[in-house]
Amino acid sequence: METLPVLLLSKFNNMNTLSINNLSLTYKNGFQAIKNISLEIGNGMFGLLGPNGAGKSSLMKTIVGLQKPTSGNIIFNGINISKNPDYIKQNLGFLPQDFGVYPKISAFDLLEHIAMLKGIKDRSERKNQILSLLEKVNLSDFRNKEVHTFSGGMRQRFGVAQALLGNPKIIIVDEPTAGLDPEERNRFNSLLNDISKEVIVILSTHLVEDVRNLCSEMAIMNKGELLKKGKPNELIAQLDQKIWSKSIDKNELNNYHSEYQIISQQLIERELHITTFSEVEPKEFIPVNPLLEHVYFHSLTQKM
Ligand SMILES: Nc1ncnc2c1ncn2[C@@H]1O[C@H](COP(=O)(O)OP(=O)(O)O)[C@@H](O)[C@H]1O
Ligand SMILES: [Mg+2]
Repeated sequence: METLPVLLLSKFNNMNTLSINNLSLTYKNGFQAIKNISLEIGNGMFGLLGPNGAGKSSLMKTIVGLQKPTSGNIIFNGINISKNPDYIKQNLGFLPQDFGVYPKISAFDLLEHIAMLKGIKDRSERKNQILSLLEKVNLSDFRNKEVHTFSGGMRQRFGVAQALLGNPKIIIVDEPTAGLDPEERNRFNSLLNDISKEVIVILSTHLVEDVRNLCSEMAIMNKGELLKKGKPNELIAQLDQKIWSKSIDKNELNNYHSEYQIISQQLIERELHITTFSEVEPKEFIPVNPLLEHVYFHSLTQKM
């Protein structure tokens, strides 16, 4: 009964909601990759940030129904997709981290093949969609080229095109900018930004900058746990007057580690700059305007 209003809303408003409730996943070998995660995600870009091994891909694969959670559930637009995976599959675009399918056929033909797998039966409808998507991802000129000859950036944009086939309501991209050069990364990011207006886009990444530039909501995870969630600006504001820095001699680092909660250290022109989190002003440190990087590093050190 409770799900009815959500369904009606999503029908008339293009509003989508994904609720992840107390989700846990233990792999067959006994390793627990997701530990009791809960998240509410709506239209727009949602950034899932975490270091390698945090469990991001495990979470994405569970959302798209490639693996079943050990406990908890996922509700998409009011429908429990852990029980009814077909609903999300019909409305989903997924660009996995290891999208390794680059056969010796043309971009157009591969998209046509994927469109058929997605159930777009009408031939002219398929063609129209493919041509407009190739335009959107800037690959029109290459539509007759074989995809295995594509550069990294072109492959990722092709990946987005295949994810967008069938007008999905939820698009999940797992570490899409890894391996792209800065220009390709910008182009890719602005493409994601364009498509996120009326759909949910979940972007998993270990790059703070991508989340900062693109996402209105975010979460940080590590070792299978959710450490933080919220709007980037609000998470940053929580660190106001709590981030301090100092340049020190390399040999002193151990002493500082024992005395302060050091969240990052960086070598700048041969000087070691340490950044610390503290509620009160530490002696001889200077205050620093908090950045999303500080939110990230602080949440990672908190749990250890
Ligand atoms: N099929 C699997 N079986 C067992 N452990 C796995 C499997 N897939 C991933 N893992 C482990 O789960 C943890 C999280 O991996 P992953 O979800 O890929 O993290 P991320 O995408 O954040 O780098 C890692 O320690 C990884 O080794
Ligand atoms: Mg991953």
